[in-house]
Amino acid sequence: MMKHIAIFASGTGSNARRILEYFEGHPLARVSLLLSGRPEVPALAIARSFGVDTVVLDKGRFSREDIVLPLLKAHSTDFIALAGFMWKIPAYLVQKYQGRMVNIHPALLPKFGGKGMYGMHVHEAVITAKEKESGMTVHWVNEYYDEGAIVLQAHCPVFPGDSPLELAKRVQALEHRFYPVIIEHLIANALNNPI
Ligand code: GRF
Repeated sequence: MMKHIAIFASGTGSNARRILEYFEGHPLARVSLLLSGRPEVPALAIARSFGVDTVVLDKGRFSREDIVLPLLKAHSTDFIALAGFMWKIPAYLVQKYQGRMVNIHPALLPKFGGKGMYGMHVHEAVITAKEKESGMTVHWVNEYYDEGAIVLQAHCPVFPGDSPLELAKRVQALEHRFYPVIIEHLIANALNNPI
């Protein structure tokens, strides 16, 4: 039976776009909802251009189980992919989607994660620390920023003289290449162990 993915995204939505493209016409799963914490972000328009329902919730509403769970249910949500979502996930949602909700982070966790480690801050920190490699991490979501068990990491070099933007582009290429495929595998594996 077709599985349904909800994407939570509050930014430019480049990963959301890749996921939407990948699952368009896919036999296993489709994206049924894009949820954002901010109105007017590009991720919303991208989802609409794929004919996918979108919703914007403020922080107060997002914290309410009686609002969010029925919304996810109405979109038959089996799996949640966070892609540049800005808020901590409340406990009720972590529990309900245990083993069915992943996040992507633009560095090799557990280094360079946690509060304040987002966007260019991450790549600046990696360069300042003189790391020789960086990459992306897909991890299960728990109640702490960037601390859930790691599903998969992909590595890339950090070259001497790299600017944060150059490194960001290299990491983003990995994210775009791997995130949709990882989601596909996780959903397919869960078929033996129904989600
Ligand atoms: C990505 O780098 C992701 O790792 C992080 O937020 C960024 C989202 O970028 N969690 P985009 O909005 O998908 O372009």
